[in-house]
Amino acid sequence: MDAYFKELGETVLARWKSENFSLAKFPKIARAALDEQPPSAHVDLAALMRDFLLGDDQPPQTDSDFGEPELVAYHHPRFYIQLLFWMDGTTAIHQHEFSGAFHVMHGSSIHAHYEFDKAQPITPYLRVGDLRMKKMELLEAGRTVPIVSGPQTIHSLFHLDSPSVTVVVRTQNDPGTGPQFNYLPPHVAFDPTFSDKLTMRRKQLLDVLEQVGDAGYAELVAEMITELDFERGFSILYHCMHYLQELEQWVPALRVFEKKHGKLAAGVGATLQEDARRSVIKGLRSTIIEPEHRFFLALLMNAPTRDDLLALVAQRFPDQPPVDTVTRWASELTEVSDEGITILDAVFPETLVKVESNRRPELFVAAFRHFLRPGKALPTIMRDLAAVNVKAMRTVFEESALRPLIPPSSGRTR
Ligand SMILES: [Fe+2]
Repeated sequence: MDAYFKELGETVLARWKSENFSLAKFPKIARAALDEQPPSAHVDLAALMRDFLLGDDQPPQTDSDFGEPELVAYHHPRFYIQLLFWMDGTTAIHQHEFSGAFHVMHGSSIHAHYEFDKAQPITPYLRVGDLRMKKMELLEAGRTVPIVSGPQTIHSLFHLDSPSVTVVVRTQNDPGTGPQFNYLPPHVAFDPTFSDKLTMRRKQLLDVLEQVGDAGYAELVAEMITELDFERGFSILYHCMHYLQELEQWVPALRVFEKKHGKLAAGVGATLQEDARRSVIKGLRSTIIEPEHRFFLALLMNAPTRDDLLALVAQRFPDQPPVDTVTRWASELTEVSDEGITILDAVFPETLVKVESNRRPELFVAAFRHFLRPGKALPTIMRDLAAVNVKAMRTVFEESALRPLIPPSSGRTR
């Protein structure tokens, strides 16, 4: 067992025991102990990894799949200390059934805090409401953040460096504060540990129909949604979304759900659409390793508005106007391949066949910059484009991961 974590664990144990293991006191105790002897300054990560690999004197480990991986560095029946490695992972937006504090030991992360208003339970495992971001901040090595169980700490982390390592000092479990909801912004909360086995098997059976290209798939899904309750209908709709979109049957299926569940279903379409956008950004993470670009992805995933996003860019890169920084990233992220010209998942429109191929990357970045700044005149490079082509370029960005940055054009609302 690592000597530093043994000492940290014993310090926390002595202080918490003297408070009669009060759950309310634990986050403060954990935070103070981490801040007094911060792991970021006292732990030699390479030596710790070597000891863990070679020494058998380790605390009991878990089979948790949170972290990439999770190592338990200290264990007591009431609490434990874990190290979470993160390679290209980002956490879901979640709350906890435990309390304590976490500390950034290595690397840095974007940390977003949320609150869930107007929560309406549908079943014990699913709720609808309004998820609102309260704060987004950059956490660098050395920072410690308390964790309070239940809906008081709803947060997500997007790790910028690979690996990022956090140390968590946490209770085993805080009774009565479950379930440990995950949140799908902007309107849905669900218990990720709940398993409805019949629904799981139905989804697998739908996958069979998808794989054989069954012509009745969309109709069958619509029939199921008509028959099912909210929770199970939502689960089926969520599962089938991608394939229904491919079949161009997504909107009719969503309408069936909305018709059946009325007001309760009002936020479901926006939530699933947002989830699909976030999945694209998560997928891009594994191929984008430059920390500045990962920072950009973190903002695209989490910043609630264009202004919030640009304000955070300005805060981290104060030497350049944020629109210039974002344009530079777009330019660096432009890729030319056989599939076309892309900035992240935005693809240069095929309809612009008349533009010479060597001009296209520059035009694409110029168009992105133009749409970022509403009210400005068209840049020279775009002046000979027909209005329909300008619109096609705008649509490409509006339908991509870059959407939060593109304000609606005049006369339109979104
Ligand atoms: Fe957490």
